[in-house]
This record gives sequence, structure tokens and C-alpha cells, in this order.
Amino acid sequence: MADQLDPEKACLVNCELFGKHSEYFESKIVPLWQDLYDSLAARSGVEPGWSVLDIGTGTGEIALRMSKLVGPEGHVLAVDLQKEMLSIAEGKKNRAGAGNLEFRRMALEELDLAGSAFDAVIGNYSLCCVMDYGAALAECFRVLKPGGRLIYNHGGPNDPLVSELAFKMFEKYQTKEPSKQLADLRESDAAQAEGFEKYRDPLVTLRLLRNLGYHQAEATIAQREIDYGSAEDYVDRMLAFDRRSEAEEVEESDLARFRFEAISALRSVSEGPGFQIADEVVYYTAIKPS
Ligand SMILES: C[S@@+](CC[C@H](N)C(=O)[O-])C[C@H]1O[C@@H](n2cnc3c(N)ncnc32)[C@H](O)[C@@H]1O
Repeated sequence: MADQLDPEKACLVNCELFGKHSEYFESKIVPLWQDLYDSLAARSGVEPGWSVLDIGTGTGEIALRMSKLVGPEGHVLAVDLQKEMLSIAEGKKNRAGAGNLEFRRMALEELDLAGSAFDAVIGNYSLCCVMDYGAALAECFRVLKPGGRLIYNHGGPNDPLVSELAFKMFEKYQTKEPSKQLADLRESDAAQAEGFEKYRDPLVTLRLLRNLGYHQAEATIAQREIDYGSAEDYVDRMLAFDRRSEAEEVEESDLARFRFEAISALRSVSEGPGFQIADEVVYYTAIKPS
């Protein structure tokens, strides 16, 4: 299937995870991602005075880091589809007094921005969420100045074994008679996953970047350890965020059964104190030729 832009589907998936659960994202996910933000910012090569676009900014962590790097002479525009995410980001910007930072709502597949405007385009785990990966990267190319730099990251070819196991175990409990809302969400989720799946292989993505006109496209695969605290915390996080809408349509008794089974199984695959999971992240960099 060719990449297709379907903003309605994109909105459904994103409204669900990042709109409805924005407070959860900010309080539970953002603290676990601090190393990712720092690592992406450190690799960005962004300099004082630059104009930077943060794509899929969420609650603004990368944008705030960019705002410090570019300083008072520079400017950062950060965009996202979800107004709930942007409203949390605005609050953080105001508390930080970041006068060179601006947030706007827009879809990455159709940036409402002039061409050749940014020295750098950056994105943390946002391109993996769009419905049309190729269209979003083409838009990044269009808005970069000649010589401008693209830097972004997302998960690598393999998901952590623990999440694959937990999601698989949960499938057994998911309702076979979903509400209309859940059925639509499943359809959108599947379309989004299908869209991203083919770009999990860095070699495929590097080819896409080159076909879009980028030069010096590079991918670096890194591993990171995430400590989720305990198997209980991991499973509860999954039910409260990643699979919340599904969990809302599962009987209480089945949810309790799933929790018990999943926690017992996950305890056996994590070693040592805490609940450590090794995850893969791929960092991409590329240049728009001068
Ligand atoms: C996993 S979150 C990452 C947020 C932020 N970059 C971070 O790392 O904290 C993905 C973000 O991309 C946004 N997003 C997904 N698809 C989008 C699209 N098509 N256009 C604009 N934003 C999108 C979501 O609303 C969400 O805020």
C-alpha cells in the first residue's frame, strides 16, 4: 500500500494517545524519556542564532532544549496536532520564560509554513506516530534552508521483548464486540502501525531520505535501559496509557486476571533490582543540499 495521508485517522490515533492522555504523558512518560531528549539535543549540532522547527513537539521538551541552544538571537517553532499537548507545552514555556519559542498546531504531513525557512528540523519519537512518514519527511525537506539539518529519532527494528509479550497476552482479553469508537481506533491504529512498520529498517529509511533529496543521510542505532520500577508498574502503565481504550472495554475480572498473568510472566524476563527494559532507538541525521 502506498503512503497515504488521512488526517482523520491520524487525529483519531493521536487524539486518543496524546490528546486524551496528555497529562499522563507529561507525568509518566516524559520523566522516563529525559535521556532521549538530552541525547537528541546533544546530537543536534544546533547553534546560537539558528532557526529550528521541532516536529511533533508534544509537551515541548525538545523545543525547550532547542530554545536554550539557539539563545536570544535564535527562534524555535514547535508544532503538534494535539492542542492538549501544546497547552501543557505553553505552560512550561511560560514558566521557563522562553521568549524565543513559539508553539503552533499543525499536521506534519502538511506544514503550514514557508519553504527554506529553518536551519534545523528536529523530532523526538514523532515521525513514528504520523500516518504518512514519507509525506512528513518531504515536508521537513521543503521547510529546511539549503544546507539545513534534519535530526530525529524513533524506535528501531525490534520492540522490547517485554512489550511484545505483554501486548500479546492482552490480546486474549480484548473485547470481540468493540464500541464504534474502539473499532475506529483499532482501524486507525492498524493503519498507523502498517505505515510505520516499513520504516523500522534503517536501510529502508536511509533510502527514502536519499530519494527525497537529502544528502549525508546517516542512522545510528543505540540501546537504552529504561527502569519502569516494577512489573506491576509496567503493566499498570500499559493499561493506563498504551492500551487504555481497550482496557476500558474489558470486564473488571478479566482485567484482574490479565494483570496477574502478565505481572507473573514479566517478572521472569527482567533481571536484577527494579524493572529494567532494554530498548532500541535509531537516530537519523541528514542534510538538505546547498
Ligand atoms: C510520542 S509523542 C512525542 C512527543 C515529543 N516529541 C516528546 O518526545 O516528548 C508524538 C507526538 O507527535 C504528535 N503527532 C503525531 N502525529 C502527528 C501529525 N501527523 N502531525 C502533528 N503532530 C503529530 C502527537 O500529537 C504527539 O504529541
